[in-house]
Amino acid sequence: MRKILTKYNNNHTYNFKYKMRKNIVAGNWKMNTTLPEGLKLAEEVNAAVAAAKPKCDVIICVPFTHLAPIAACIDQDVLGLGAENCADHASGAYTGEVSAPMVASTGATYVILGHSERRQYYGETSAILREKLGLALANGLTPIFCIGEVLEERENGTYNDVVKKQIEEALFDLSAEDFSKIILAYEPVWAIGTGKTATPDQAEDMHAHIRATIAAKYGNEVADNTSILYGGSCKPSNAAELFAKPDIDGGLIGGASLKCADFMGIVNAF
Ligand code: PGA
Repeated sequence: MRKILTKYNNNHTYNFKYKMRKNIVAGNWKMNTTLPEGLKLAEEVNAAVAAAKPKCDVIICVPFTHLAPIAACIDQDVLGLGAENCADHASGAYTGEVSAPMVASTGATYVILGHSERRQYYGETSAILREKLGLALANGLTPIFCIGEVLEERENGTYNDVVKKQIEEALFDLSAEDFSKIILAYEPVWAIGTGKTATPDQAEDMHAHIRATIAAKYGNEVADNTSILYGGSCKPSNAAELFAKPDIDGGLIGGASLKCADFMGIVNAF
Protein backbone atom coordinates (compact mmCIF):
# COMPACT_ATOMS: atom_id res chain seq x y z
CA MET A 1 0.00 0.00 0.00
CA ARG A 2 1.19 3.50 -0.67
CA LYS A 3 -0.13 6.79 0.51
CA ILE A 4 -1.96 8.64 -2.22
CA LEU A 5 -3.74 11.88 -2.75
CA THR A 6 -7.13 11.50 -4.33
CA LYS A 7 -8.79 14.51 -5.89
CA TYR A 8 -12.46 14.27 -6.70
CA ASN A 9 -13.53 16.58 -9.48
CA ASN A 10 -17.13 16.36 -8.34
CA ASN A 11 -16.68 18.00 -4.96
CA HIS A 12 -13.18 19.43 -5.15
CA THR A 13 -12.10 17.84 -1.91
CA TYR A 14 -8.79 16.20 -1.19
CA ASN A 15 -8.62 12.91 0.54
CA PHE A 16 -5.44 11.46 2.04
CA LYS A 17 -5.63 7.74 2.37
CA TYR A 18 -3.87 4.47 1.81
CA LYS A 19 -4.33 2.90 -1.57
CA MET A 20 -6.33 -0.30 -1.20
CA ARG A 21 -6.98 -1.07 -4.85
CA LYS A 22 -4.73 -3.42 -6.74
CA ASN A 23 -1.98 -2.46 -9.10
CA ILE A 24 -2.26 -4.64 -12.19
CA VAL A 25 -0.31 -5.17 -15.39
CA ALA A 26 -2.27 -7.18 -17.96
CA GLY A 27 -1.03 -8.33 -21.35
CA ASN A 28 -3.38 -8.36 -24.32
CA TRP A 29 -1.83 -10.65 -26.90
CA LYS A 30 -4.56 -9.86 -29.49
CA MET A 31 -4.42 -12.17 -32.55
CA ASN A 32 -0.78 -13.08 -32.15
CA THR A 33 1.19 -16.30 -31.57
CA THR A 34 0.50 -19.84 -32.70
CA LEU A 35 -0.26 -22.29 -29.90
CA PRO A 36 3.37 -23.50 -29.51
CA GLU A 37 4.61 -19.88 -29.52
CA GLY A 38 1.97 -18.87 -27.01
CA LEU A 39 2.77 -21.76 -24.68
CA LYS A 40 6.46 -20.86 -24.77
CA LEU A 41 5.75 -17.19 -24.04
CA ALA A 42 3.34 -18.00 -21.21
CA GLU A 43 5.86 -20.35 -19.57
CA GLU A 44 8.57 -17.73 -19.92
CA VAL A 45 6.41 -14.98 -18.40
CA ASN A 46 5.25 -17.27 -15.59
CA ALA A 47 8.86 -18.06 -14.64
CA ALA A 48 9.90 -14.40 -14.87
CA VAL A 49 7.01 -13.20 -12.70
CA ALA A 50 7.66 -15.95 -10.14
CA ALA A 51 11.29 -14.85 -9.91
CA ALA A 52 10.59 -11.11 -9.86
CA LYS A 53 7.92 -11.08 -7.13
CA PRO A 54 6.45 -7.85 -8.55
CA LYS A 55 4.50 -5.22 -6.65
CA CYS A 56 1.46 -5.74 -8.84
CA ASP A 57 -0.82 -8.50 -10.07
CA VAL A 58 0.18 -9.78 -13.49
CA ILE A 59 -2.28 -11.21 -16.02
CA ILE A 60 -2.04 -12.43 -19.60
CA CYS A 61 -5.09 -12.33 -21.90
CA VAL A 62 -4.65 -14.73 -24.79
CA PRO A 63 -6.51 -16.14 -27.82
CA PHE A 64 -9.32 -18.62 -27.03
CA THR A 65 -7.39 -21.53 -28.56
CA HIS A 66 -4.57 -20.98 -26.06
CA LEU A 67 -6.59 -20.75 -22.84
CA ALA A 68 -6.86 -24.39 -21.73
CA PRO A 69 -3.29 -25.41 -22.63
CA ILE A 70 -1.85 -22.30 -20.97
CA ALA A 71 -4.03 -22.82 -17.90
CA ALA A 72 -2.44 -26.26 -17.60
CA CYS A 73 1.14 -24.96 -17.71
CA ILE A 74 1.15 -21.77 -15.60
CA ASP A 75 0.63 -21.15 -11.90
CA GLN A 76 -2.35 -18.83 -11.68
CA ASP A 77 -1.33 -17.75 -8.17
CA VAL A 78 1.64 -16.17 -9.97
CA LEU A 79 0.17 -15.21 -13.33
CA GLY A 80 -3.53 -14.62 -13.97
CA LEU A 81 -5.10 -15.83 -17.20
CA GLY A 82 -7.85 -14.24 -19.25
CA ALA A 83 -9.63 -14.28 -22.60
CA GLU A 84 -9.76 -11.29 -24.94
CA ASN A 85 -13.51 -11.42 -25.47
CA CYS A 86 -16.57 -13.58 -24.87
CA ALA A 87 -19.96 -13.94 -26.54
CA ASP A 88 -23.10 -12.02 -25.63
CA HIS A 89 -25.03 -15.30 -25.28
CA ALA A 90 -24.45 -18.20 -22.89
CA SER A 91 -24.86 -20.98 -25.46
CA GLY A 92 -26.73 -21.92 -28.62
CA ALA A 93 -26.65 -21.47 -32.38
CA TYR A 94 -23.97 -18.78 -32.64
CA THR A 95 -21.43 -20.37 -34.95
CA GLY A 96 -17.86 -19.40 -34.17
CA GLU A 97 -18.59 -17.69 -30.87
CA VAL A 98 -17.06 -18.59 -27.49
CA SER A 99 -19.17 -18.08 -24.39
CA ALA A 100 -18.31 -16.92 -20.87
CA PRO A 101 -19.03 -20.38 -19.38
CA MET A 102 -16.67 -21.91 -21.97
CA VAL A 103 -13.94 -19.43 -21.05
CA ALA A 104 -14.47 -20.13 -17.35
CA SER A 105 -14.32 -23.88 -17.98
CA THR A 106 -10.74 -23.56 -19.28
CA GLY A 107 -9.58 -22.28 -15.92
CA ALA A 108 -9.19 -18.65 -17.05
CA THR A 109 -10.56 -16.07 -14.62
CA TYR A 110 -10.42 -12.75 -16.53
CA VAL A 111 -11.91 -11.48 -19.77
CA ILE A 112 -11.23 -8.27 -21.69
CA LEU A 113 -14.49 -6.67 -22.82
CA GLY A 114 -15.14 -3.63 -24.97
CA HIS A 115 -11.68 -3.32 -26.46
CA SER A 116 -11.73 -0.57 -29.09
CA GLU A 117 -10.83 -3.10 -31.79
CA ARG A 118 -13.98 -5.07 -30.91
CA ARG A 119 -16.05 -1.88 -30.91
CA GLN A 120 -14.57 -0.66 -34.17
CA TYR A 121 -14.20 -3.82 -36.28
CA TYR A 122 -16.97 -6.01 -34.86
CA GLY A 123 -19.66 -3.45 -34.12
CA GLU A 124 -19.79 -3.99 -30.36
CA THR A 125 -22.19 -1.49 -28.81
CA SER A 126 -22.77 -0.64 -25.16
CA ALA A 127 -25.92 -2.81 -25.21
CA ILE A 128 -23.97 -5.84 -26.47
CA LEU A 129 -21.21 -5.18 -23.96
CA ARG A 130 -23.72 -5.02 -21.14
CA GLU A 131 -24.85 -8.56 -22.06
CA LYS A 132 -21.26 -9.77 -22.16
CA LEU A 133 -20.54 -8.18 -18.78
CA GLY A 134 -23.52 -9.86 -17.16
CA LEU A 135 -22.48 -13.26 -18.51
CA ALA A 136 -18.84 -12.77 -17.53
CA LEU A 137 -19.80 -11.83 -13.97
CA ALA A 138 -22.36 -14.63 -13.69
CA ASN A 139 -19.63 -17.10 -14.63
CA GLY A 140 -17.11 -15.82 -12.12
CA LEU A 141 -14.90 -14.03 -14.65
CA THR A 142 -13.38 -10.65 -13.81
CA PRO A 143 -14.01 -8.26 -16.70
CA ILE A 144 -11.28 -5.89 -17.80
CA PHE A 145 -13.57 -3.31 -19.36
CA CYS A 146 -12.04 -0.94 -21.93
CA ILE A 147 -13.07 2.63 -22.63
CA GLY A 148 -11.44 5.43 -24.57
CA GLU A 149 -11.92 8.12 -27.15
CA VAL A 150 -10.81 8.26 -30.79
CA LEU A 151 -8.45 10.93 -32.12
CA GLU A 152 -11.21 13.17 -33.42
CA GLU A 153 -12.84 13.24 -29.96
CA ARG A 154 -9.50 14.04 -28.33
CA GLU A 155 -8.98 16.88 -30.79
CA ASN A 156 -12.49 18.34 -30.59
CA GLY A 157 -12.41 18.28 -26.80
CA THR A 158 -15.34 15.88 -26.23
CA TYR A 159 -13.19 13.08 -24.79
CA ASN A 160 -14.35 13.40 -21.17
CA ASP A 161 -18.01 13.19 -22.21
CA VAL A 162 -17.36 10.29 -24.59
CA VAL A 163 -15.68 8.20 -21.92
CA LYS A 164 -18.31 9.08 -19.31
CA LYS A 165 -21.03 7.96 -21.72
CA GLN A 166 -19.24 4.66 -22.40
CA ILE A 167 -19.13 3.99 -18.65
CA GLU A 168 -22.71 5.09 -17.99
CA GLU A 169 -24.21 3.10 -20.88
CA ALA A 170 -22.48 -0.21 -20.25
CA LEU A 171 -21.85 -0.25 -16.51
CA PHE A 172 -24.14 1.98 -14.51
CA ASP A 173 -27.04 -0.38 -14.13
CA LEU A 174 -24.76 -2.83 -12.33
CA SER A 175 -25.16 -3.12 -8.57
CA ALA A 176 -22.33 -1.61 -6.55
CA GLU A 177 -21.32 -5.15 -5.64
CA ASP A 178 -20.99 -6.21 -9.27
CA PHE A 179 -19.35 -2.94 -10.31
CA SER A 180 -16.71 -3.56 -7.63
CA LYS A 181 -15.65 -6.76 -9.44
CA ILE A 182 -14.66 -4.90 -12.62
CA ILE A 183 -11.23 -3.65 -13.67
CA LEU A 184 -11.34 -0.64 -15.98
CA ALA A 185 -8.83 0.12 -18.72
CA TYR A 186 -8.60 3.59 -20.25
CA GLU A 187 -7.21 3.20 -23.74
CA PRO A 188 -7.21 6.30 -25.92
CA VAL A 189 -7.72 4.76 -29.35
CA TRP A 190 -5.23 7.17 -30.93
CA ALA A 191 -2.50 5.72 -28.69
CA ILE A 192 -3.11 2.02 -29.37
CA GLY A 193 -0.37 0.42 -31.43
CA THR A 194 0.64 3.82 -32.79
CA GLY A 195 3.70 4.47 -30.67
CA LYS A 196 1.91 7.64 -29.52
CA THR A 197 1.33 7.52 -25.76
CA ALA A 198 -0.94 9.82 -23.81
CA THR A 199 1.31 11.97 -21.63
CA PRO A 200 1.23 10.97 -17.95
CA ASP A 201 -0.70 14.18 -17.25
CA GLN A 202 -3.27 13.54 -20.00
CA ALA A 203 -3.75 9.99 -18.73
CA GLU A 204 -3.95 11.06 -15.08
CA ASP A 205 -6.55 13.74 -15.90
CA MET A 206 -8.73 11.14 -17.60
CA HIS A 207 -8.24 8.55 -14.84
CA ALA A 208 -9.24 11.14 -12.22
CA HIS A 209 -12.29 11.99 -14.35
CA ILE A 210 -13.23 8.30 -14.56
CA ARG A 211 -12.81 7.87 -10.81
CA ALA A 212 -14.93 10.96 -10.14
CA THR A 213 -17.62 9.59 -12.49
CA ILE A 214 -17.65 6.33 -10.52
CA ALA A 215 -17.67 8.20 -7.20
CA ALA A 216 -20.69 10.26 -8.24
CA LYS A 217 -22.63 7.06 -8.97
CA TYR A 218 -21.36 4.49 -6.46
CA GLY A 219 -19.66 6.59 -3.79
CA ASN A 220 -16.05 7.29 -2.89
CA GLU A 221 -15.29 3.88 -1.43
CA VAL A 222 -16.21 1.97 -4.61
CA ALA A 223 -14.35 4.57 -6.70
CA ASP A 224 -11.26 4.31 -4.50
CA ASN A 225 -11.23 0.53 -4.77
CA THR A 226 -11.55 0.38 -8.59
CA SER A 227 -8.33 -0.38 -10.43
CA ILE A 228 -8.06 1.77 -13.55
CA LEU A 229 -5.36 0.68 -16.01
CA TYR A 230 -3.86 2.76 -18.79
CA GLY A 231 -3.40 1.24 -22.24
CA GLY A 232 -1.90 2.54 -25.47
CA SER A 233 1.77 2.19 -26.43
CA CYS A 234 2.80 1.56 -22.84
CA LYS A 235 6.39 0.30 -22.77
CA PRO A 236 9.27 -0.16 -20.32
CA SER A 237 10.54 3.36 -21.05
CA ASN A 238 7.29 5.16 -20.15
CA ALA A 239 5.58 2.81 -17.68
CA ALA A 240 7.18 4.12 -14.48
CA GLU A 241 6.16 7.70 -15.20
CA LEU A 242 2.58 6.65 -15.97
CA PHE A 243 2.29 4.31 -12.97
CA ALA A 244 3.59 7.03 -10.62
CA LYS A 245 0.36 8.98 -11.15
CA PRO A 246 -2.09 8.55 -8.27
CA ASP A 247 -5.06 7.38 -10.35
CA ILE A 248 -3.15 5.11 -12.75
CA ASP A 249 -3.17 1.62 -11.27
CA GLY A 250 -1.27 -0.23 -13.95
CA GLY A 251 -1.47 -1.00 -17.64
CA LEU A 252 -3.16 -3.02 -20.36
CA ILE A 253 -0.31 -3.87 -22.65
CA GLY A 254 -0.60 -4.90 -26.30
CA GLY A 255 2.57 -5.01 -28.42
CA ALA A 256 4.98 -4.97 -25.50
CA SER A 257 3.31 -8.02 -23.91
CA LEU A 258 4.54 -10.24 -26.75
CA LYS A 259 8.15 -10.15 -25.60
CA CYS A 260 8.82 -11.40 -22.09
CA ALA A 261 11.63 -8.90 -21.41
CA ASP A 262 9.53 -5.91 -22.51
CA PHE A 263 6.50 -7.08 -20.54
CA MET A 264 8.63 -7.62 -17.44
CA GLY A 265 10.17 -4.18 -17.91
CA ILE A 266 6.64 -2.80 -17.50
CA VAL A 267 5.71 -5.13 -14.61
CA ASN A 268 8.86 -4.06 -12.79
CA ALA A 269 8.05 -0.38 -13.27
CA PHE A 270 6.03 -0.62 -10.03
P1 PGA B 1 -0.59 -1.36 -27.49
O1 PGA B 1 -2.08 -1.94 -27.29
O2 PGA B 1 0.10 -1.52 -26.15
O3 PGA B 1 0.01 -2.21 -28.55
O4 PGA B 1 -0.72 0.06 -27.88
C1 PGA B 1 -2.79 -1.77 -26.10
C2 PGA B 1 -4.14 -2.44 -26.22
O5 PGA B 1 -4.76 -2.34 -27.29
O6 PGA B 1 -4.63 -3.07 -25.26
